[in-house]
Amino acid sequence: MRSTTLGDLVDEAVPILHATAQADARREVEELAARVLGVEPAELDRERVLDGLAVRRLRDLVGRRADGVPLGHLTGRAVFAGLELVVGPGVFVPRVHSELVLAAGRETVAGIAGPTVVDLCAGSGAIGLAFAAGRPDAEVHAVEFDPVAVDFARRNAARRAALGDTAVTVHEGEATRAGALTGLDGRVDLVLANPPFMPDAAEVPDEFGRYQPRQAVFGGADGLRVVRQVVEAAAGLLRAGGVLVVEHGHLHGASVPALLRESGCFADVSCRPDHDGWPLYSAAVRTETGDRTS
Ligand SMILES: C[S@@+](CC[C@H](N)C(=O)[O-])C[C@H]1O[C@@H](n2cnc3c(N)ncnc32)[C@H](O)[C@@H]1O
Repeated sequence: MRSTTLGDLVDEAVPILHATAQADARREVEELAARVLGVEPAELDRERVLDGLAVRRLRDLVGRRADGVPLGHLTGRAVFAGLELVVGPGVFVPRVHSELVLAAGRETVAGIAGPTVVDLCAGSGAIGLAFAAGRPDAEVHAVEFDPVAVDFARRNAARRAALGDTAVTVHEGEATRAGALTGLDGRVDLVLANPPFMPDAAEVPDEFGRYQPRQAVFGGADGLRVVRQVVEAAAGLLRAGGVLVVEHGHLHGASVPALLRESGCFADVSCRPDHDGWPLYSAAVRTETGDRTS
C-alpha cells in the first residue's frame, strides 16, 4: 500500500475546509499540519511520509476546524498585526478586521510623544499589545473582565515584554467608568476597544456561536450593552482631544455613531468600513464639555 505523504493529506483536507467557507483553507490546513508535526508552516515538506498517528491527528484537527472550532483554539496561537499570540479555548481569537481598529488608533496618536493608551475588552491582549509593539514610548493599559482571558493576556504581555516591547499592564475588571482604571481619568490619549457587539438572538457562524466565548461575542438584546459601557468609560478616561476607536460591526453603522453623539461627550464622530465596505468601527474625539463625573 502506498504510504501517505503530507502533500496527500493537505490535498485531501483543503476541499473539506473550502466546503465550510474557510477562505484561507490551504494556509489553515498547513497551520494544523505544522502543529501536528511540531514545525513551523514554512518548514513543511509535502514529500514527508506521515505515520498513522500523525494522519489521524491531522484528520481529527481538520474535522474539528470544519465543525467551526477556531483555528487558534486548535493550534494554540494566533497572529495579529504581525505579533504571535498565545490563545486557546476560553479566549477570543483576534480577527484580522481588528487590525483596522489598531491602525486607526495608531494614526491618531502618531504625533504625540509618550501617549497613554487603553485597550478595553482586551481578550488575549491583541490590540493593546500590537499597539505597544510599535510604540516604545507609550504607556499602555488593557482591561478585561474574564479571568481566563486575563490569564492569556498576561501571558502574552509577559512574552512581548521579554522580547523588548513596551510593558502592557493588564487589569482584571469591568470596562466601565467605575472599573479598573479610575486613576487615569481625563489623562488618556487613545481608547481602543473591540467589545462584544452581536445581539443575543443573532444567528452567527458556529465559530462565534458555539466556540468563541459567549461573553466575547454577544452584547445583550441589541448587542450594545458593553459598547455603551465602553463609550461611557472612554468619556471618563480620555482627555479633551483624546480619541475613542471602537469596533462594532456592520449591524451598528448607524446606532454607535448616534450613541457617541448623544453622549454629549464626543465630536468628529465617524464610522469607517472594513475591506469589503461594511461598517466596522467608529472613531470620535472627546470634547472639552460633557460630564466626567457621573
Ligand atoms: C470581541 S472580544 C475582543 C478581544 C480582543 N480585544 C480582540 O480584539 O481579540 C471581547 C472581549 O471583551 C470581554 N468583555 C466582555 N464584556 C466585558 C466587560 N463588561 N468588561 C471587560 N471586558 C469585557 C470579553 O471577555 C472578550 O474577551
